[in-house]
Amino acid sequence: MDPMTEKELVRRALVARDAAYAPYSGFRVGAALLAEDGRVFTGCNVENASFGATICAERTAVAKGVSEGARRFTAVAIASYDDAPCVPCGICRQTIYEFAAEGFRYLSVAADGTFVRYGMDEILPHGFKGLDDRK
Ligand code: THU
Repeated sequence: MDPMTEKELVRRALVARDAAYAPYSGFRVGAALLAEDGRVFTGCNVENASFGATICAERTAVAKGVSEGARRFTAVAIASYDDAPCVPCGICRQTIYEFAAEGFRYLSVAADGTFVRYGMDEILPHGFKGLDDRK
C-alpha cells in the first residue's frame, strides 16, 4: 500500500471517529477508505432519532467516494473507542463487497491503534454478486 501506508489509513480512521454523531448508542466509529486512484475518503457513523435511518461510518465513506467518482477501493480501516478491534456490520460488509478491488483489505482497529487485517473473502464469504449469481 504505497504511498498510503496501512499505518496512515489507520491514523485517519482514528481521527474520523471524532466527527461521529452517536448520541443514542454512544458508540463512535471512524472509517478511512482507500480508493484505487490513491484518494482516501473518511466517514463516521451518523445516527438518527429514527434509529433505522442511522448510517455506519463505512457506508458514509463509501457514499462519499462513489459520489466523487471512485468505483474501486483497495482497503478500509475502521476504528471505534473500544479496546477491541472494530469489526464491520453485515450491511457494511455487503456494501463494500460491491466496490472491493482484488486483494481488498479490512483493517480492524482497536482504540490504541493496533489492528487486525482481514481479506474480503474472510470478512464476507459468499457475498451477494447480484442477479448474475442465478446464471
Ligand atoms: N456502526 C458503524 O458505524 N459501523 C459498523 O460497522 C458497526 C456499527 C455504528 C452504527 C451505530 O451508530 C453504532 O455503531 C452502534 O451500533
